Amino acid sequence: MNIPFPQTPEFSGALYAPSRVEGEVFDLEIEGVVPEAICGTFYQVSPDPQYPPMLGTDIFFNGDAMVSGFYFADGRVSLRRRYVLTDRLVAQRREGRSLNGVYRNAYTNDPLAAKNNTTANTSVIPHNNVLLALKEDAMPWALDPQTLETLGEWNFDGQIDSATFTAHPKLDPLTGNLLAFSYEAKGDGTPDMAYFEISPQGKLLHEIWFQAPYAAMVH
Ligand SMILES: [Fe+2]
Repeated sequence: MNIPFPQTPEFSGALYAPSRVEGEVFDLEIEGVVPEAICGTFYQVSPDPQYPPMLGTDIFFNGDAMVSGFYFADGRVSLRRRYVLTDRLVAQRREGRSLNGVYRNAYTNDPLAAKNNTTANTSVIPHNNVLLALKEDAMPWALDPQTLETLGEWNFDGQIDSATFTAHPKLDPLTGNLLAFSYEAKGDGTPDMAYFEISPQGKLLHEIWFQAPYAAMVH
């Protein structure tokens, strides 16, 4: 790649300089002691653009999704980082450059861009043995919770037929059910919304469709 990233605040500094590093570090160095009772994984996702922006500039939110997992067990912590291999990222890697234009505006994309415009970079949540990477402009993408390998776009075993899915589903603390909604649920500009409730075992328990007065962002 010989296109430089822009030297703008969105692409530089400790917080925003693209990392683009996937990998594993077994047994991280620890300052102090991690109690052995802490056992589990802390997941995090953030935008991390694989390629410099096609239009020369961009906002931070438009970067490809990099998922990190910090795996705690027996007083040790190990780290794994993987990109979510969305259709969008796969198309960029094929062409060796960014193919995506203005944030969440697929109509400004290169004709070679993937049809699915999502980066899946807003949040991650474990559910029913997969880790879901989410952005509200599309359905989730599923990852293997251990290896962070991308399994693919996730429609809950065919139970949910929506164009979109919230990036911030909630877990009912009593039942473990996943509570979620969709807006622009029948595609860009549609006023259709839906509400879903999914059991911890992945069974769709409730589904309600309705229309908002007009299409609008519902974060
Ligand atoms: Fe948010």
